[in-house]
Amino acid sequence: MRLSQFFLPTLKEVPSEAQIVSHQLMLRAGMIRQSSAGIYSWLPLGHRVLRKIEQIVREEQDAAGAQELLMPTIQPADIWRESGRYDDYGKEMLRITDRHDRDMLYGPTNEELITEIVKGSIKSYRDLPKLLYHIQWKFRDEVRPRFGVMRGREFLMKDSYSFDLDFQGARRAYNKMFVTYLRTYARMGLKAIPMKADTGPIGGDLSHEFIILADTGESQVFCDRDLIEHDVLADTVDLEGDLQPTVDAWTTRYAATDEMHDQTRFEAEVPTERRVTARGIEVGHIFYFGTKYSRAMGAMVASQDGAQIPLEMGSYGIGVSRLVGAIIEASHDENGIVWPAQVAPFDIGLINLKSGDADCDRAAAGLYASFKLSGKDVLYDDTDGRAGAKFANMDLIGLPFQVVVGPRGLKSGVVEIKNRATGQRYELSPDSALAHLTG
Ligand SMILES: Nc1ncnc2c1ncn2[C@@H]1O[C@H](COP(=O)(O)OP(=O)(O)O)[C@@H](O)[C@H]1O
Ligand SMILES: [Mg+2]
Repeated sequence: MRLSQFFLPTLKEVPSEAQIVSHQLMLRAGMIRQSSAGIYSWLPLGHRVLRKIEQIVREEQDAAGAQELLMPTIQPADIWRESGRYDDYGKEMLRITDRHDRDMLYGPTNEELITEIVKGSIKSYRDLPKLLYHIQWKFRDEVRPRFGVMRGREFLMKDSYSFDLDFQGARRAYNKMFVTYLRTYARMGLKAIPMKADTGPIGGDLSHEFIILADTGESQVFCDRDLIEHDVLADTVDLEGDLQPTVDAWTTRYAATDEMHDQTRFEAEVPTERRVTARGIEVGHIFYFGTKYSRAMGAMVASQDGAQIPLEMGSYGIGVSRLVGAIIEASHDENGIVWPAQVAPFDIGLINLKSGDADCDRAAAGLYASFKLSGKDVLYDDTDGRAGAKFANMDLIGLPFQVVVGPRGLKSGVVEIKNRATGQRYELSPDSALAHLTG
């Protein structure tokens, strides 16, 4: 993409309504634009990141054997009356009446709708287990939308739903999502820690929030440092095997949000030097809720002995749009965003320091074409701005590598590569630069 053609409405000033750094940077870098409180348009740069995150989530869900479908954003109120949640959900639900005076709503989540779909089609234990998911916009009319996409009213969520015959099956599905979530966040360059969460009237211990540590997080969290230091991607796990030992290895170490925190246990179980008290951002939540919806909505299956029993269910959410902000909270410096390579909107920012100069144009255009041929996404700054402004802009949008082509360097046959995360710079011939970044 040539910057001269790209729609990148960056801002010079820090917008005053933005209180936290990710919100400020997303607005400054031209990633989002607010349409009304807690509702955003995703501009091209932001949209690229959103899609990359979504794709990692999708690949990991698919690897776990979950099947993607797509449910609508608008749902009929009737199914929520059946489950008993139509009144309970309160003001956070955006209620809509259609032209025939039918009560509709913009879905804040999809337990009812998926149960309704499955109930008509899954009749026997032979059809189980099933794990279904979609990635769809949700609406929750939050009292205080804030922090940009982190607590929006309209937000993109991946939500999966598991259907099993019995508790053992439901636990297997839960464990599968537990392990899959760890990998999903690790692939985005994040360290997300599963923390015991409230199970409400369901009881048991099958509810975990996945939390990343950041000073601007909304919850206070307490955990064992070992959990943060563990390298998830180095583990090889067989998703079809018994995942209980893996899950136990995580859940026996102390990790809790303030809601579930027990200071006495924390001090008894975790040696002082490993005790971490910090702020955290919830980027996912997995939850076993048994037969809560299947019973209320009559989603029954025939078991092996012919009895009609309600489906065992769980739901598993990932805040896809929140993750864009959360990753920035975890990865930025005073000059701007520092994207982990896996979610960066482009791999490389190519800067032509002297647009219009024949040598610079030729060298930069040559590199641009070669990078693209080798499958790299490149944002090519071919504009005629000042060098300082170009550097500042590239730092702000945070692409992993910058390649700088200037008249002085070209005279000695080199271009400069800058690693955005480390700040390290090195000079290489254009060919070596190409080999270095595509090798
Ligand atoms: N208002 C919101 N804006 C952005 N993301 C949200 C919002 N509410 C929830 N999420 C994301 O969706 C995930 C699943 O939601 P859920 O656990 O049902 O929400 P909550 O914890 O707010 O009740 C959360 O872990 C979070 O990452
Ligand atoms: Mg939650």
